[in-house]
Amino acid sequence: MCHCGVVNDDSVVRAVDSGARTLSQVCRSTGAGQDCGACVFSLRRLICQHEDTQRATLLEVEGAAS
Ligand code: FES
Repeated sequence: MCHCGVVNDDSVVRAVDSGARTLSQVCRSTGAGQDCGACVFSLRRLICQHEDTQRATLLEVEGAAS
C-alpha cells in the first residue's frame, strides 16, 4: 500500500477499525503517505471501500435484528 512507510493494506484496515475516519488520521496512525504521496489515492480508496463494507454489514445486522 505505502512503499515509503512500509505499510500494508491490513494496517490501514486496522487503523479504520480502530477509529481512524479520515485520510490524515489513517496516515498519522499508520505512517503511510508521509513521504512521496504516491499511495494517497490508493489509501483513500481502501478507506472508502472498508467503510462501505462496515456500513453494509451494519445494515445487514440491523435488518436481521428487526
Ligand atoms: S508510497 Fe506512500 S508515501 Fe510514498
